[in-house]
Amino acid sequence: MSIQDVKSPMFLRNLWYFALHTRALKPGKLIHKTILGEPIVFGRTREGEAFALRDLCPHRGVPLSAGRIVEGTIECPYHGWRFKPSGQCSLIPSLVGEEGVEASKIGVRKYSISEKNGLIWVYIAEDAQTESRPATAPPHLPITPQAMPTLIEAQLFPCGIDHAVVGLMDPAHGPFVHRAWWWRSAASIHAKAKKYAPSHLGFTMVTHKPSSNSTLYKLLGGDRTTEISFQLPSIRVEHIKAGRNEVVGLTTCTPLNDDETEVTQTFYWNMAWIAPFKPIAQSIARVFLGQDRHMVTLQKEGLKFNPRLMLIQDADVPAMWYYRLKKEWHESSAAKRDFVNPVPEATLRWRS
Ligand code: FES
Ligand SMILES: [Fe+2]
Repeated sequence: MSIQDVKSPMFLRNLWYFALHTRALKPGKLIHKTILGEPIVFGRTREGEAFALRDLCPHRGVPLSAGRIVEGTIECPYHGWRFKPSGQCSLIPSLVGEEGVEASKIGVRKYSISEKNGLIWVYIAEDAQTESRPATAPPHLPITPQAMPTLIEAQLFPCGIDHAVVGLMDPAHGPFVHRAWWWRSAASIHAKAKKYAPSHLGFTMVTHKPSSNSTLYKLLGGDRTTEISFQLPSIRVEHIKAGRNEVVGLTTCTPLNDDETEVTQTFYWNMAWIAPFKPIAQSIARVFLGQDRHMVTLQKEGLKFNPRLMLIQDADVPAMWYYRLKKEWHESSAAKRDFVNPVPEATLRWRS
């Protein structure tokens, strides 16, 4: 099968995208981010309320992120118009009161956000009017409400969302791209069979014992099990349990535009004893993600020639499912009908 046979529009809307970590958005701060090609300003009032608005002043188009937070509003740097976290304009300083202009009737697009477990998600609606009523709930993670990230690694991939997602879910590249003594070697390749089931907006590689050729997993000790789930638009959650030790790894791909995708890994764990090894864990995460990034950078060279690409059985089946999920999301949204998960229950076999 070729990728072109299952390809669907690049960006999906009416879904939640990972935007920022809580720790990056301090009170009184404004941060610009382009997501799905839309300019967005994330802000936090001094009282701690986080919000997201279109990063463009409706007066003359200056990015609001260049302004500042004043009295719980964003003040545009050009003529000082102020906007509340709801997007409504609350002040136009130049008005003398005879112009017939009402500030409160002017507004900028507001984005719904969700902030929990140190993560800020933004909902990108198809239509600005439905922005305040998200059709889906923010992603749920298998962690306690108080859990905060223990390790974060983010890198900018020079590729569109699809190659970033497919590259990360692809099981066959591990022994080649991530070859290292602490992970796995090409010689360690062996046949695998993994069970999959459809799950919320995606699929899950059901609980299993992790690869016996991953040295890193062995460090956790105990009786190890892993469950890996993927859900639209681009959220992968790996939950590893080893006795009382638990690690949850969240990988998100946030498309900034057609050619750039931010890949972020956020880890949560409950093992205090890891603290002294955190710098090592951080550099492993950086190397690991950097290897994936290097591969999409190489791939970009080939893609310039617009080749017809392939998806093969069985190792590429998760990628095929990804494209089918996207297509179904797109079609069901367009037809305003319920989403029907197209992923079957299956056991996939490959060597890696
Ligand atoms: S451009 Fe923002 S206030 Fe004029
Ligand atoms: Fe990888």
